[in-house]
Amino acid sequence: MRALVTGGARGLGRAVAERLVRDGGDVALLDVDPEVEGTAREVAALRPGSRVPAIVGDVAREGDVERTVDEAAAALGGLDLLVNNAGIGGSTAPLVETSVEEIRRVIEVNLIGAVLVARTVARVMIGQGAGGCIVNIGSIFGQQGVAGAAAYCASKGGVALLTHSLALELAPYGIRVNTIAPGNMATEMHFQDLRERAAASGRTFEEEVARVVATIPLGRHGTGEDVAGAVVWLASPDAAYVTGQTIGVNGGVLLT
Ligand SMILES: NC(=O)c1ccc[n+]([C@@H]2O[C@H](COP(=O)([O-])OP(=O)(O)OC[C@H]3O[C@@H](n4cnc5c(N)ncnc54)[C@H](O)[C@@H]3O)[C@@H](O)[C@H]2O)c1
Repeated sequence: MRALVTGGARGLGRAVAERLVRDGGDVALLDVDPEVEGTAREVAALRPGSRVPAIVGDVAREGDVERTVDEAAAALGGLDLLVNNAGIGGSTAPLVETSVEEIRRVIEVNLIGAVLVARTVARVMIGQGAGGCIVNIGSIFGQQGVAGAAAYCASKGGVALLTHSLALELAPYGIRVNTIAPGNMATEMHFQDLRERAAASGRTFEEEVARVVATIPLGRHGTGEDVAGAVVWLASPDAAYVTGQTIGVNGGVLLT
């Protein structure tokens, strides 16, 4: 398995990369944060002989995406799997108080970034002629609107329908495209969101964490390993007939 994971320096992307490498894969890590170099060394150490190139670039910039996807494909000798995971949260302010620059940046990273990387990787996979798998990381916030998250919800709702369209366009090439929609995951992005919501509501961070956990039927935050398990399944022959779907990895939180 030769994979490209965007936003791989930390959080969910890093956990997905660790699982793929442990399972015998080679994984190019793309991130705008130069810390990705250190992450790549640590992930590579999980399996001697693995190839884990670190590539620095911004998924929202077309030139960066073309350069970095080329680098990843050259380093690994091709690409079988894309995990389109890079993303930012944006502020929790109401839309009427949010600058257009911030709205644009959230949509450019989360949606345009996903479009650019998927488009560029799809060209590589079509050229290889051997099918492939694209996993876009959406969100429960792409399945319902949330006050204080309009730009983020719009970006992730866009990712879900990007998946549907690409699944149709790429099916003739044997390339399957699905969304994983995580819920409340124990990463820095989510905890930053909770810190802002706690400050705005007068609750402590710990109270905000407990309030969120109480809304999750499985009674805990999700982890990168939870997302990695779904990625590994989607990339496996067991999911050979699965395309265009949104797989919730959310502890049942949308059921309540
Ligand atoms: N944490 C959650 O609760 C949660 C829930 C649903 C969906 N998600 C989604 O999961 C994905 C990963 O989130 P996370 O929680 O691991 O966040 P995180 O902030 O821990 O990690 C995100 C990574 O993406 C990188 N990144 C940001 N902008 C980039 C850009 N322009 N180009 C390249 N890399 C960039 C960051 O540097 C970082 O390493 C995101 O798409 C996020 O929207 C997260």
